[in-house]
Amino acid sequence: MNRPIRSYVLRQGRTTPAQQRALDGLLPKYGIAFPQPIKSSKPLVLEIGSGMGETTIAIAIAHPEADFVAVEVHGPGVGSLLNAIEREKLDNVRVIRHDAVEVLEQMVGDASLAAIHLFFPDPWPKKRHHKRRLVQPELAALMARKLAPGGNLHAATDWPDYAEQMAAVFGAEPLLEPCDAGFAARPLTKFESRGRKLGHPIRELFFRRRT
Ligand SMILES: C[S@@+](CC[C@H](N)C(=O)[O-])C[C@H]1O[C@@H](n2cnc3c(N)ncnc32)[C@H](O)[C@@H]1O
Repeated sequence: MNRPIRSYVLRQGRTTPAQQRALDGLLPKYGIAFPQPIKSSKPLVLEIGSGMGETTIAIAIAHPEADFVAVEVHGPGVGSLLNAIEREKLDNVRVIRHDAVEVLEQMVGDASLAAIHLFFPDPWPKKRHHKRRLVQPELAALMARKLAPGGNLHAATDWPDYAEQMAAVFGAEPLLEPCDAGFAARPLTKFESRGRKLGHPIRELFFRRRT
């Protein structure tokens, strides 16, 4: 059987004891197991690759009227996010530790999302690795199908050529149109402040599903 090309390689990175405790004790509380369908009675925002969850938490605190589902494969990141949900006593964030492409395909209803967030996806800078980049025409079509009419697709990257690829791929998807803003303002993260100091330009892309 052909193995699908994945957008990540699971790093063996160190999991701290606190992250491990969260994975053991809090994932059952805040997690949604693959492939259980995601349900929400509020506007629903799905984040692809939430990393350590810093942005997820800030946006969820600012938007109690919405539900947020963070999808991430990296254990330490999931553990950190779970600890932050518990610490901030948030009842509007759920976490899925699984490949976001399969989550979109199998757990998310068509036309059900108020927004999709894709912040600083792995850039895979080497040309021979570009096939691993998440933003490809098939994913753009899948994301557009899962957004409700008028729903926002909000992406950010500090890799200029990936920004160009995103603009071209999203721009070519018939169900999407460019717009001026997203569902939520994106807070500045530590990672990003570091990038700015190094002079990396940050590009933010806003699209929405046509109504
Ligand atoms: C460069 S990090 C950015 C994290 C975070 N969004 C931020 O802005 O700090 C990209 C993250 O996406 C995750 N990722 C990559 N492909 C994924 C996939 N198919 N499903 C879920 N997570 C994925 C990686 O594990 C990594 O944590």
